[in-house]
Amino acid sequence: MAVKLNHTIVHARDQRASATFFAEVFGFPAPVRFGPFLDVEVANEVTLAFLETDQAIDVQHYAFLVSEPEFDEIFGRVQARGLDYWADPAHRRRGEINHNDGGRGVYFNDPAGHYLEIITRPYGG
Ligand SMILES: [Fe+2]
Repeated sequence: MAVKLNHTIVHARDQRASATFFAEVFGFPAPVRFGPFLDVEVANEVTLAFLETDQAIDVQHYAFLVSEPEFDEIFGRVQARGLDYWADPAHRRRGEINHNDGGRGVYFNDPAGHYLEIITRPYGG
């Protein structure tokens, strides 16, 4: 199976703010301009192409598998920014993380309202 996800468009109200948020919070390289997009490269060779729109944004969900030390770093940056975070995707357990699958997980939002998640174990792992 050689088919790999290569890139996807992430809609943003302010593409610079959203792309920079991803780069800074997750520790990705700085965004790079590519035509109308601001590209952020994820570790597994997937490009997140941030595109600005003044239309209604359909909220998407982006989940990232991270190591335990990376979880500490990223979650630390989420807390340092004073962002709301939740243990669950329905946003019922505010200010908590989860320990699903024997790891750690937490949800927070990007500047456009997309639901972001970091997990240290894959679902069912
Ligand atoms: Fe998820």
